[in-house]
Amino acid sequence: MALIAPSLLSADFLNLQKDSEMLNKSEADWFHLDVMDGRFVPNISFGLPVIAHIRKATQKVCDVHLMIEAPEQYAAAFKEAGADVLTVHIEACRHLHRNIQQIKQLGMKAGVAVNPHTPVHLLADIISDLDVVCLMSVNPGFGGQKFIPHTLHKIRQLKALITEKNAQALIEIDGGVTLENASSIILAGADVLVAGNTVFKSADPVATIAALKAI
Ligand code: DX5
Ligand code: ZN
Repeated sequence: MALIAPSLLSADFLNLQKDSEMLNKSEADWFHLDVMDGRFVPNISFGLPVIAHIRKATQKVCDVHLMIEAPEQYAAAFKEAGADVLTVHIEACRHLHRNIQQIKQLGMKAGVAVNPHTPVHLLADIISDLDVVCLMSVNPGFGGQKFIPHTLHKIRQLKALITEKNAQALIEIDGGVTLENASSIILAGADVLVAGNTVFKSADPVATIAALKAI
């Protein structure tokens, strides 16, 4: 049974309290919070003040996915805002090992996200330090895109790397997860499923979360 992390990028931004309450009473495990800076990705979403408010609206894990340049400049501020898991992109970090130690020293779980073009083997020398690896199954920047099938191969490679190194990192899949493809993603080895459009654009988000959880 995978953990389910609905992405609030697809929530109703005028009613974040209502959507947070909906997630609180659902079987969702994590709140997935997508931060975009308009530089690392070609879109701008929301940032610290919004996350600080969502933090007050839930006891569940706040999983913050930073799609930003120079994430080390903001790690302490995201801790302050209430992040439990802080994920940075490998493509945005010249000193990834330092960035990961910083996140852990601040008292958060550390995640690394990898874009579709980035090979999993680049994680070999950092995997043992990670709590989460977020494999992007779309190009980051927008919700509602189509799942890239090659991700299934990367999940299996990552699973093998984690086993080989006797590491503990959870495998999180982000982008284009649906009720139709979730079982193949879990079968390949995923531990956490992010779902934006599938949850928030469905007629009954609580039931959709339950259906994902039951896979
Ligand atoms: C994409 C974000 C995702 C996105 C997922 O840049 O990182 O978390 O919100 O949305 P769906 O599930 O709609 O692809
Ligand atoms: Zn995300």
